[in-house]
Amino acid sequence: MKRDFIDTNTYSKDEIQFLIDLGIQIKNDIKNGNYPQLLKNKTLGMIFEESSTRTRVSFETAMTQLGGHAEYLAPGQIHLGSSEGETLSDTAIVLSRLVDVLMARVAKHSTVVQLAEAATVPVLNGMSDYNHPTQEIGDIITISEHLPSGKKLKDCKIVFVGDATQVCVSTMFMASKMGMEFVQFGPKDYQIPEEKLAIGRANAKISGGSVKITDQPDEALKDADFIYTDVWYGLYENPLSYDERMKVFYPKYQVNDKLMSQASSHAKFMHCLPANRGEEVTDSVIDSPNSIAWDEAENRLTAMRSLLVYLLAPSINYSEKELNELNDPRLKNMILSITSNGLKL
Ligand code: CP
Repeated sequence: MKRDFIDTNTYSKDEIQFLIDLGIQIKNDIKNGNYPQLLKNKTLGMIFEESSTRTRVSFETAMTQLGGHAEYLAPGQIHLGSSEGETLSDTAIVLSRLVDVLMARVAKHSTVVQLAEAATVPVLNGMSDYNHPTQEIGDIITISEHLPSGKKLKDCKIVFVGDATQVCVSTMFMASKMGMEFVQFGPKDYQIPEEKLAIGRANAKISGGSVKITDQPDEALKDADFIYTDVWYGLYENPLSYDERMKVFYPKYQVNDKLMSQASSHAKFMHCLPANRGEEVTDSVIDSPNSIAWDEAENRLTAMRSLLVYLLAPSINYSEKELNELNDPRLKNMILSITSNGLKL
C-alpha cells in the first residue's frame, strides 16, 4: 500500500528518527562525493498553488542528485483549480499515471488531503494552512545537529515566539513527538487553538515531552535551548496589515538580543524563512553566530532526500549491483531495511 507524507502525526517516533538518520547519512555521502542513485528514472510532480523558494528548490535538487527528475507545475499552468478545470481527483488519477510521486503546496489543507486520497502514488504536503511537515523534518535534523553539549533531543526545550502559524503548529507536533519541552510564547488571540494543542499533548503523553502556551516571557524563555520564530501574519485567510501586526506583536514578541539573553546562553535561533527582518527578528539575532536559520534552509534538502527515498524505495526493486554501488554499507543497510527484501520498520 502506498504511503503519503501529509502530517507527521501519522508517523511513529521511530520512523521520524529513521528519517533523521537517513537524511544525515545521504547528506554525508553526498558531501563525500557519493551521489546515491536511489531514485533513478523516477519523476516528481510538484504542484504549487503558492510561491516558494526553499521547498521548490530543495525538492527539485533532491530528485536531481538522487538520479531522478522533478517537474514544476505552476499555478495557472495546469488545469487544477481553474474555473473550467479538472476535479482534484481526476488530476490526481492522471498525474499518478504520469509521475512516480507528487508534492503539493496548497492554500487549503483539504486540497492536499483529497489529492492524496485519489492519487495512487505517494503525495507529500509541501505546506498547507494547517501544517508544514517537510519543514518539521528539516528542522528536527537541524536541531539534532546542534544539540547542546551532553543533551539529547528529549532533554531540550524549544520555544516558539509569536504567532501560531502553521510552522508553529508543526514545531509543536514534532517537538512533542520527539519528547521535547515545547512552549509557545505568544499573545492570547494568536495562540495555538485547543484542537491542535490536544494533538501535541497526546504526542507528549507518549514521548514524555510537554506542551505549554504562555504570554509570560520569564516562564517561557528560561533555560530555552532553541528559540524559533516565524512571520507575524495572523490568520491565513485574514492576514494582518503591517500596522496591525506591529500593534499585536511588537516589541514584546520580537526576537532581539534582549529576548535571546533571557534564554540559555547556548540557545540557538531558528526561523523557517522567509524572514521579515526588523519585525519578528532583528538583524543582530538572525545574523549572529547562534543563528541556525541557514542550516535549517540547507536541511530542507536533507529532509527531501530522506523523505523521497523513504516513500519510494519500498516500491523499487534495487538490483544487487545497484545496492553495491552505494559505497557506504550503512546506507545499504538502511535501504535494505525499507525495501521489500528487507525488514519493515
Ligand atoms: N520555509 C519555506 O517553506 O520556505 P519557502 O516558502 O521558500 O518554500
